[in-house]
Amino acid sequence: MAIRPILTIPDRFLRKRAKPVERVDAELRRLMDDMLATMYEAPGIGLAAPQIGVSRRLIVMDPAKDDAPKTPLVMVNPEILDRSEELRLHEEGCLSIPDFTAEIERPAKARVAFIDREGKPREMELEGIWSTLVQHEIDHLNGILFIDYLSRLKRDMVVRKFTKQKRAEAL
Ligand code: NI
Repeated sequence: MAIRPILTIPDRFLRKRAKPVERVDAELRRLMDDMLATMYEAPGIGLAAPQIGVSRRLIVMDPAKDDAPKTPLVMVNPEILDRSEELRLHEEGCLSIPDFTAEIERPAKARVAFIDREGKPREMELEGIWSTLVQHEIDHLNGILFIDYLSRLKRDMVVRKFTKQKRAEAL
């Protein structure tokens, strides 16, 4: 297992639509393992392949607290089939936007179709933190970041801060 570097904003790669996975094979399972290791190491509770510079529709998640047993969930080509009208507010963060969080409202429940680690098609109804998480990670596959749900003013402020920071680091 290898820890991969995580891209941060304003990296353009984070804005691209990821390509569908065609086959669940040993190489893809290696990528899943690398992504889980990278996520736990960060530490974070979710990671999408584009965040490590890989254009594949693949996400990994585990919202378990540090001291709780691990509950990793891997989804290949995930797709939201249905969302509840009821909303849920959650203070979100993102490994690609370090040290920034904001309260985001998303559907409280989401029904998701995906291919699992063994290559089997599955469907799952997710709620609570899992619902927020899966929607946040699927957004990454479509080039969407959680700051896109903020006002334009707030979003521009965050992006500007990171652009400046990167420029300063490059000097
Ligand atoms: Ni994220």
